[in-house]
Amino acid sequence: MTLRPDSTVSLVAPSMINCQSDQSTPLKLGIMASGSGSNFEAIAQAIADEQLNAQIQVLVYNNPTAKAPIRAANRGVEAVLLNHRDYIHREAFDQQIVKTLQQYDVDWVIMAGWMRLVTPVLIDAFTDRIINIHPSLLPSFKGINAVEQALASGVKITGCTVHLVCLEVDSGPILIQAAVPILPDDTAETLHARIQIQEHRILPQAIALAAQKSNNFRF
Ligand code: GAR
Repeated sequence: MTLRPDSTVSLVAPSMINCQSDQSTPLKLGIMASGSGSNFEAIAQAIADEQLNAQIQVLVYNNPTAKAPIRAANRGVEAVLLNHRDYIHREAFDQQIVKTLQQYDVDWVIMAGWMRLVTPVLIDAFTDRIINIHPSLLPSFKGINAVEQALASGVKITGCTVHLVCLEVDSGPILIQAAVPILPDDTAETLHARIQIQEHRILPQAIALAAQKSNNFRF
């Protein structure tokens, strides 16, 4: 089988791909971002398009130069800067994140380009309710520079993964993946741009899927 440059494969049963979850009350999302916030935007757009039954309670960002808060302001979402450099250790930083997310009555935490390691302080406060997006087909290319790692390795297909967060980095249960072919003249920028198109598609779907699974589990 050959993959065209624009072809992708969603690694989830077709019946589960619909963004709409069964729940009647909107999911209350807290989004964490460190960078440009294009995944924040994709979630906000899916909500605006009624593809995802959710509301964004707050954006937490850690990098004063991040573009994500500008996107939040344009969407009328409150943004809170928590700069990790102001905290003596990761646990103290996570404690402040948890406090903020709880103040905003968040149910589900979405790490949408969050570039900090998290501790049990955050994970235990939102057990099985933290979702991360990573720009590779996990378990390959964990950690930082996943796109560069894929290019350097010589693989012909990479992609993105949305998964539940556990303590081990980039390792929790996988919700949805999308595959993206690597082209001979790809740079990290061109490849990342194509991966991001898929990220924006599968992240809202994965949020709905996680909520659905969590509801089914409860009843
Ligand atoms: C995304 O590609 C996301 O997968 C990646 O950061 C980018 C954020 O983009 N996350 C990681 O690498 C986490 N290990 P965005 O700010 O435009 O949403």
